[in-house]
Amino acid sequence: MARKQKKPLDLSAYAVPRHVAIIMDGNGRWARKRKLPRIAGHRAGAENLRRIINACVEFDIQVLTIYAFSTENWGRPEREVQGLMNIFARVLDQELDDLHAQGICIHHLGDMSGVSQNLQEKVMHALELTKDNQTLTLNIAFNYGGRAEILHAARAILSDGVSPDDLTEELFSSYLFTGGLPDPDLVIRTSGELRVSNFLIWQAAYAEYYPAPAYWPDFGREELFEAIVAFNKRDRRYGLVTEGADTNTS
Ligand code: IPE
Ligand code: IPE
Ligand code: MG
Repeated sequence: MARKQKKPLDLSAYAVPRHVAIIMDGNGRWARKRKLPRIAGHRAGAENLRRIINACVEFDIQVLTIYAFSTENWGRPEREVQGLMNIFARVLDQELDDLHAQGICIHHLGDMSGVSQNLQEKVMHALELTKDNQTLTLNIAFNYGGRAEILHAARAILSDGVSPDDLTEELFSSYLFTGGLPDPDLVIRTSGELRVSNFLIWQAAYAEYYPAPAYWPDFGREELFEAIVAFNKRDRRYGLVTEGADTNTS
């Protein structure tokens, strides 16, 4: 069978967000719609990652952050949690060489100490192998929660003996798992949900939020393109007034 031709998508007239963050939601509903077990949805979701990473490289996005497992997701049935751990390990086994060859630099956001030694070692190996790559930074948020991240930063700041007067927003940011990276410009949540669910709550203070109706396994290159087009229609004011707005204060 002939390979499906990629639709030409031209972003030359648009500003491309530097950092895109995605809450990959809807795997369970994707599976339920097909009368499949939830884990089949997670497998399809993991396969979709490859498409989105390729699209980010094609669109020249510099940083992609994906929310893969939250600190709250531990409360799911044990079988599902174990299934998600196994999928993460398998993705690293199967995709790492290709990601490295593509110039992807992998970072981890979150706390790996709660997961198996085997998975910790795979993640450490991936970070070490890809640390000098420059095509795209891929942040994998796994066992990640925004509140836990802020607490982790606060503890490190205290144990470093930083004086309250020296603590600035910039310094605080540098203690987060994303230290040194630009804040997300665009946060996409698939499956139509309108929640933040503890994702990048500090870093996304001025991100543009975009709810995508598709379940994560169905969110592809064209849907990402549409999100970037929508992002371009936003007026990012950062608390200021738009140029040309009515300045009559009386
Ligand atoms: C997102 O899909 C993946 C994870 C949270 C790990 P869900 O599993 O939340 O799918 P829904 O929301 O139940 O459809
Ligand atoms: C957020 O999705 C976490 C991830 C995508 C990893 P959830 O499905 O866990 O969030 P809620 O429960 O709908 O808020
Ligand atoms: Mg969900």
